[in-house]
Amino acid sequence: MGRVPPGDYAGTSPHWLREPADVNALVPVLWPASARKDDDGVLHVGGLAVPDLVADVNTPAYVLDEDDFRSRARAFRDGFAGYDVYYAGKAFLCTAVARWVAEEGLCLDVCSDGELTVALRAGTDPARIGYHGNNKTAMELRRAVDAGVGRIIVDSFHEIERVADVARQLGVRQGVMIRVTAGVEAHTHEFIATAHEDQKFGFSISSGDAFEAASRVVAQDGLELRGLHSHIGSQIFDTSGWEVAARRVLALHARIAVELDVVLPELDLGGGFGIAYTTQDTPAAPADLAEQITKIVAGECAALGIAVPHLSVEPGRAIVGPAMCTVYTVGTVKEVALDGGATRTYVSVDGGMSDNIRPALYDADYSCTLASRASTATPVLARVVGKHCESGDIVVKDEFLPGDIAPGDLLAVPGTGAYGRSMASNYNHALRPPVVAVKDGQARVVVRRETVEDLLATDIG
Ligand code: LLP
Repeated sequence: MGRVPPGDYAGTSPHWLREPADVNALVPVLWPASARKDDDGVLHVGGLAVPDLVADVNTPAYVLDEDDFRSRARAFRDGFAGYDVYYAGKAFLCTAVARWVAEEGLCLDVCSDGELTVALRAGTDPARIGYHGNNKTAMELRRAVDAGVGRIIVDSFHEIERVADVARQLGVRQGVMIRVTAGVEAHTHEFIATAHEDQKFGFSISSGDAFEAASRVVAQDGLELRGLHSHIGSQIFDTSGWEVAARRVLALHARIAVELDVVLPELDLGGGFGIAYTTQDTPAAPADLAEQITKIVAGECAALGIAVPHLSVEPGRAIVGPAMCTVYTVGTVKEVALDGGATRTYVSVDGGMSDNIRPALYDADYSCTLASRASTATPVLARVVGKHCESGDIVVKDEFLPGDIAPGDLLAVPGTGAYGRSMASNYNHALRPPVVAVKDGQARVVVRRETVEDLLATDIG
């Protein structure tokens, strides 16, 4: 028994994972643009050495590169020129981020009263907010309409009535879009096109519900139908799913023009643009995505003989995902015997599924790097795990780390900006970590670490 000899990881590592030529080197596509390692192997982000950064805030901590976030936001704004780009706040939202989104000229998509509250607190122009959700309550809708939210994306016949009632009570005409299901389910490189979808979101196009929803919205004086909305999935790399969805959605758009005599001014194609979590992923630049999607829509509109509506998209992950990384401290290292005489090195860190549920929930792959020093030790195949009471509490399923990885080392996991902090929990009464924004050598805590007092505040004894 003993460590698997270098290069002999058959059966113990995934097919895509290669032993790196230099285990200390970063894979740039996974990191914020400012990330680099110095001569001592210390990771720097936003001009700050990560060990210095976490000396103040402790670990685990999310580190958010402000310039990187802003430049990804701008890449969507400029790449999708002529579109409205709604940043999907569900990926990650806090007051500072909502301000950056507005400053970079993006609109904002919210899907709860909490997200709306943060957006309004940040001073977001309500007219530039889109409000999603499949079960918004009458109270939530009242607050949204009262705040002057630009568009509410309606998701059920009940909700159409509810928004119309609220608009009537408040004496306003509310802009709405209709969330439709185009029968396309897309994930990474694959998509499935079906006639119908067995899921909770939207009105089905194929069943006729989406057309019926449009008729009902049009019949309400208090509602102004702005257009159709379609979101086909997440972490998508290939535009063929959007192509099928656009064809089906635009056919409905054209039918509404003919049968209801309403030319809808807008069309939203949702979010879902993929990012690189590991070397397996090959994301496209926003400008290239925009070019392809614009061509698809223009082609379909020409075929249908209709004008191209004003388009919008809703990227979340592709803006905030790569702009953030999570820094952990290694607590224990263990060699575990595998079948066939190999071993796997289990590296336990001071966070886990409470700060990133994605590996446990979606079997998501991540990567990581030793952030506090360089090492000349031979790489070993490692699994980074959290400190929670579940064997599925995995942070990075498979990664090569230096063989001398040891307690006290810092590990940094890139690509954790989207659906990391936003889906974090207090499992095992963990305190959710802070988000530290870095820029030009300065650090600013934009979300502080929770305290035991925060936990006890809701536990009234
Ligand atoms: N627009 C709508 C209507 C959405 O439902 C979503 C995501 C987005 C935009 C933004 O999608 P993005 O560009 O971030 O992929 N928790 C999962 C992802 C759930 C996505 C939900 N909707 C994950 O961690 O992968």
